[in-house]
Amino acid sequence: MGERIIDANEKKEDSFDLNIRPSSLDEYVGQQEIKENLRVFIKASLMRNEPLDHVLLYGPPGLGKTTLAHIIANELGTNIKTASGPSIEKTGDLAAILSTLEPGDVLFIDEIHRMPKFIEEVLYPAMEDFEMDLIIGSDGKSRSIKIDLPPFTLVGATTRAGDISSPLRDRFGIISKLEYYKEEELEGIIKRTSHVLEMPIEDNAAKELAKRCRKTPRIANRLFKRVRDFALVEGESFINKKLTMNSLNRLKVDAYGLDNVDIEYLTSLIEKFNGGPVGVETIATSIGEEVSTIEDVVEPYLLQEGFIKRTQRGRVATDKAYNHLKINHNDSLF
Ligand SMILES: Nc1ncnc2c1ncn2[C@@H]1O[C@H](COP(=O)(O)OP(=O)(O)OP(=O)(O)O)[C@@H](O)[C@H]1O
Ligand SMILES: [Mg+2]
Repeated sequence: MGERIIDANEKKEDSFDLNIRPSSLDEYVGQQEIKENLRVFIKASLMRNEPLDHVLLYGPPGLGKTTLAHIIANELGTNIKTASGPSIEKTGDLAAILSTLEPGDVLFIDEIHRMPKFIEEVLYPAMEDFEMDLIIGSDGKSRSIKIDLPPFTLVGATTRAGDISSPLRDRFGIISKLEYYKEEELEGIIKRTSHVLEMPIEDNAAKELAKRCRKTPRIANRLFKRVRDFALVEGESFINKKLTMNSLNRLKVDAYGLDNVDIEYLTSLIEKFNGGPVGVETIATSIGEEVSTIEDVVEPYLLQEGFIKRTQRGRVATDKAYNHLKINHNDSLF
């Protein structure tokens, strides 16, 4: 897939975002219910002087799972150690991470659904009893030793909750699904970023960005930064609506925040497959994208916004998709 400005997946440039990433629950915009619950659980754990229960965060990319994991550690006043599912390849990798934990620490495992199954099994006793069984030696001489771990909180994040095995899921005491953000919330995030980056933005310009960022903070921030570039080059000292509209047009982000990959997906669904139902593999092949990209990045927003529906027999384009592409619904039947 080419570079997409509205790709919710993390890119290298996003990692310079540390200063615009909120560091406390108060600064974290939206996700009201999750925040309120976490506040209570964190407070209770501090009062009891026991580690917070393990937390599983799931939801589409860019909605703030990693950010929330860091905030949890901040609010608990502990350190956070981070790892990602695919990078834990051997039992020893996990043992090495677990052995660095201090009492009360947060262990953040990103993309936890991609952790190998046999590693998961080592994690179970670590999560439940703060114990780890290590096999040492080899062949006839190998033996298992039990290692005590300090009490810790595992925070797991995944974009694919369905891919987490149920024994693993059952070991999380707190399971939270992050939702797409409301426009007002995104506006708030954009204004906060504008403040941090010291580039003022007019209200109606912030509103326009909020409409076109796929309800995703990561994309809101990324669009803001690109518009800020246009402002700088054009010698503007603040971002107004006209500049925003021009920039978004040049970035090829349409009124719904759809870009050419989304449009290609919808066009293909409607024109090549009569609007469906058609399997995701077939659509992916027809537009030359990976199935996983389609399922994780493209479809969640199209589903959320009602451009497509998922049925037993495959994906179906809705009237909204036909209207958006200005294709007459009946035309494609003949
Ligand atoms: N609730 C929020 N309030 C303010 N800013 C936010 C919020 N959530 C996310 N952001 C911003 O969006 C960016 C992306 O968030 P984050 O990296 O936490 O997403 P993620 O869910 O971990 O994505 P991925 O699934 O790709 O790992 C952050 O750098 C942060 O600046
Ligand atoms: Mg993340």
